[in-house]
Amino acid sequence: MTDTWRQLADHRAATGDRPIAALFDGDPDRARRCTVAADGLWFDWSKTAIDDTALDLLLALAEGVPSRREAMFTGERINETEGRAVLHTALRATEGPILVDGRDVLPEVHATLDRMRRFADRVRSGEIAGQGGRYTDVVNIGIGGSDLGPVMAALALAPWADGPRLHFISNVDGADATDTLKGLDPERTLVIVSSKTFTTIETMTNAETVRRWMAGRVADPASQFAAVSSALDRTAAFGIDPERVFGFADWVGGRYSVWGPIGLSLMLGIGPDRFDEFLAGGRAMDHHFRSAPLEGNLPVMLALVGVWHHQVCGYPTRAVLPYANRLLRLPAYLQQLEMESNGKRVTMDGADLDRPSGPIVWGEPGTNGQHAFYQLIHQGTQVVPCEFIVAARGHEPDLDHQQKLLIANCLAQSGALLRGRSLEEARALMAGKGLPEAEAERQARHRVFPGNRPSTTLVIEALTPFTLGQIVALYEHRVFVEGVILGINSFDQWGVELGKELALKLGPLLDGGDADGQDASTLALVAHIRGVRGD
Ligand code: F6P
Repeated sequence: MTDTWRQLADHRAATGDRPIAALFDGDPDRARRCTVAADGLWFDWSKTAIDDTALDLLLALAEGVPSRREAMFTGERINETEGRAVLHTALRATEGPILVDGRDVLPEVHATLDRMRRFADRVRSGEIAGQGGRYTDVVNIGIGGSDLGPVMAALALAPWADGPRLHFISNVDGADATDTLKGLDPERTLVIVSSKTFTTIETMTNAETVRRWMAGRVADPASQFAAVSSALDRTAAFGIDPERVFGFADWVGGRYSVWGPIGLSLMLGIGPDRFDEFLAGGRAMDHHFRSAPLEGNLPVMLALVGVWHHQVCGYPTRAVLPYANRLLRLPAYLQQLEMESNGKRVTMDGADLDRPSGPIVWGEPGTNGQHAFYQLIHQGTQVVPCEFIVAARGHEPDLDHQQKLLIANCLAQSGALLRGRSLEEARALMAGKGLPEAEAERQARHRVFPGNRPSTTLVIEALTPFTLGQIVALYEHRVFVEGVILGINSFDQWGVELGKELALKLGPLLDGGDADGQDASTLALVAHIRGVRGD
């Protein structure tokens, strides 16, 4: 493996000056060859500098993926630092058995899904109602993986929203709860407290706040609460009826949990049948990931492009640019999925990682991003590999001309990134504008685009519950493959712990408590803030 990394580095050094466009000149078939299709998805990676040699070396890096993949799908405890299996795929599986320690987990997964379905149907039909009648609104309280998935999916699947309106409170900033609750009728609002651990300070604080908001207006606020959690003792202590608690096992990581009970708010919003389609999309991607050869395997190829750009070429970030406005929160969702999973600094056995771990992931939907940060992507000094996502069809047939404009913009951007505009072309642009020669030259230089900036394009037929499931599972498996190649544990998140611990200590300090162990800068900030507040 070390040899392969070295060969990749050498190959990059030897070919780094070759423009990506030259790869097309030398290979008329490149645009067709450098694609992967999977159940209606079409992934084009031709606009990258990966040539046949690089591809072979990258595929060699992925040699260990199949055995690790089987270990994941079959319930081995591959999350070694927490001693857990990693089986979010079981949440969308229909065929078993899937054994953890010799016990099939599928019957319980399906029993919980059935309970969710029954609950969702009864809430949506009004059979389960609030004190003021049929629930008009659902508020999900959760953070991180207990929030981002349902938020992202609820926005993405807005055309299928035919149940109560969905709202999400995540931030411990009281502004979040205040603004979300504004205008809601407490008597017709169902609250779901979503927390795997039921200890997360933000979620528990917001749950108390919402309970107080209800308490003034609803005789029995607890009756309008449900919970999604693995900690049944704690949900009971909070006063939530066990009938309305939906649990999941420790083999589902927070950022992989939208497929199960954490998706309850989504199911309430779009209905169990549409939720099933979302699961089916994820399942289709699982099947593809598990069965397609590596070079024709969409998650594997997406991962290899990622490894090429970050670990081999050294580009520090990657932008996810959905040309689908309803995928507004997909970049935020992927930030947790990718950065919490692969933002690690030691390998599985605790040795220092001797290459960069996962990249910084960011993005915004097109076309909005074009009028904001694309300037840097086109002409800045850093190279930002771009991952475009676009749908062939929109959901609004009468606005198809807008869909075509959207697609045209997406393709125009990736084309412009590839080709750029040379100084000669920029000079030609300025010629005939009647400017003095020196000024025309100066202006021309500002209009040069270096081009040769890599991108990939994922084309979906349309954004539907099924295709959303495919996309989410695709990125999950991409993270997995990158993690296997790096030899890290993609399924723990120790990096979030220290900040949590220190926040607990700092709370009392803001009230004038003991300053032991704090650094001087933090103490000065506390003193300043207390001064401003007049505490
Ligand atoms: O931020 C760390 C984290 O543990 C995430 O992995 C998780 O999604 C989030 O907190 C919320 O945790 P919980 O569901 O236990 O409230």
